[in-house]
Amino acid sequence: MQIRIFDNAGQVGKATALLIGAQLVAKPDSVLGLATGSTPLPTYQELIALYEAGAVDFSRATTYNLDEYVGLPTDHVCSYHRFMKDNLFDHVNIRPEAAHVPNGLAANLSQAGRDYDAAIEAAGGLDLQLLGIGRNGHIGFNEPAETFIRGCHVVTLSDSTIEANTRFFASSDEVPRQAISLGIGTIMNAKRVLLIATGADKADAVEQSVNGEITPRVQASILQAHPDVIFLLDKAAAAKL
Ligand code: GLP
Repeated sequence: MQIRIFDNAGQVGKATALLIGAQLVAKPDSVLGLATGSTPLPTYQELIALYEAGAVDFSRATTYNLDEYVGLPTDHVCSYHRFMKDNLFDHVNIRPEAAHVPNGLAANLSQAGRDYDAAIEAAGGLDLQLLGIGRNGHIGFNEPAETFIRGCHVVTLSDSTIEANTRFFASSDEVPRQAISLGIGTIMNAKRVLLIATGADKADAVEQSVNGEITPRVQASILQAHPDVIFLLDKAAAAKL
C-alpha cells in the first residue's frame, strides 16, 4: 500500500487525474472502474482539463461505475448515471456505449448484478479502480457487514450512509434505501486501485482502513491485501495516520 498526502483536495484531484491519464497513455483501451460522490469531483475536473489540452484520450477506454441507487430514474439529478454524464462523460470523448453504470431500475436486480460482473469479466477485468470511502469505511456501497461479498449485489444502505448522502437530496426521506454495488471481489481483482479521501470526516475511516485489522466491518481494510493500491489523501483525511 502506498500513501500519498497532499495539502488540499485540489492537489489530490490533480495527482489522481494524472495517474488515470498515465493509465490511458500506457493502455488506451483500459477498463476503468469509476466512482461517484463529492470526493472525485476535482479528479474529474482535472481529467476534463487534461482531455481539453489533448493529454488524455478516452476514445478507446471502457468504464464501469461502482454503484447506483435502486429505483431512481437515470435522469434524476441524484442518480449516479446523471452524475457521471454531468461531471465527466459529457465532457470527454468516451463512447456512450462504453460508459457503464449499474442498472438500479432492473426488474431483476440480482440478475442485473450478475450481468454487470460478466460484462466486466468479458472486458478483461478492471485495469484501474477509482474509489472514494464512506465515513464508515464503505467502498462502492459495500456497507459494514459480517462478510465481504464478491460480486455485484443489492445493498441496504446503513443509517450513516443515508445521513451522509441526504445532503444531495431534498430530505433524508428521499434517499433511496437500497443500491446496487460492485462487490469486493471485483474491486480486489482490479490491477490497480486508487482510493481518494479528503476532509476531516474521513480521517477515522482512513486510519482504520490503513492500520486496523482486515475486517468486513471496515470494508476498505481489505485493500491492505491488494498488491497495487495507492491512497491519495489530503492532510485532513490523513490526520489520524
Ligand atoms: C457514497 C458512494 C461511494 C462514495 C462515498 C463517499 O455513498 N456510494 O462510492 O465513495 O459514499 O462519498 P463522498 O465522496 O461524497 O464523501
